[in-house]
Amino acid sequence: MSSILLVTSSPRGGESLSSKIATEFVDKLVAQHPGSDVVHRDLGLEPIPHLDTVSTSAIRKPAEARSAEEAVAAAYSDKLVAELMAADTVVIATGLINFNIYSTLKSWIDNVARAGMTFRYTAEGPQGLATGKKVYVVLAAAGIYSEGPAAAMNHAVPYLKTVLAFLGMTDVEVVYVEGTAFGPEAADKAIAAARERTAQLALAA
Ligand SMILES: Cc1cc2nc3c(=O)[nH]c(=O)nc-3n(C[C@H](O)[C@H](O)[C@H](O)COP(=O)(O)O)c2cc1C
Repeated sequence: MSSILLVTSSPRGGESLSSKIATEFVDKLVAQHPGSDVVHRDLGLEPIPHLDTVSTSAIRKPAEARSAEEAVAAAYSDKLVAELMAADTVVIATGLINFNIYSTLKSWIDNVARAGMTFRYTAEGPQGLATGKKVYVVLAAAGIYSEGPAAAMNHAVPYLKTVLAFLGMTDVEVVYVEGTAFGPEAADKAIAAARERTAQLALAA
């Protein structure tokens, strides 16, 4: 049995390829591990507000020093942190958006990266506290970024791997749904390849 956190970030609802493949993947994981708990944080349906004066000040203060408004902002971030910390498997879905991730996903990261909760600074340097998790990233893109000439423009995967590692999550698998703009045949092929890859990953999980 496992606790799965599915974080989808596309605002495109049923049209989203990253959400579709990631959701199907979670179904496969659950089929492999019946009884798993699944929490779905749908950032497309329920976007997380960007950091602002209140939220940035709230997370730097002890609870007793927060204003009522700051307490609400901190509680919201606390809930997102608790969802992440409770999961042993995290499935993150995003499109490649202007060479990086959906801004909704960036806002989620800005809320879960919390000093003293998901990382801390020590005399030896920063230490991630969100350890012991397996992370899967499903990345949908119009072009091809897993290899070839555009790979250097893929800022999504290096960024996600960096920030996830900073928080203690170093076991990361990436599933690409890519080349979808190269005609309907290429799109079908990309989806089939992603489904095949997630089927293999589910079997291995
Ligand atoms: C605003 C915007 C920017 C995009 N930027 C890129 C890009 O830089 N490279 C690329 O290959 N595709 C880009 N795309 C295409 C998306 O990556 C593609 O449609 C993907 O399927 C989106 O993910 P989703 O289907 O989960 O919403 C962009 C799409 C949008 C709407």
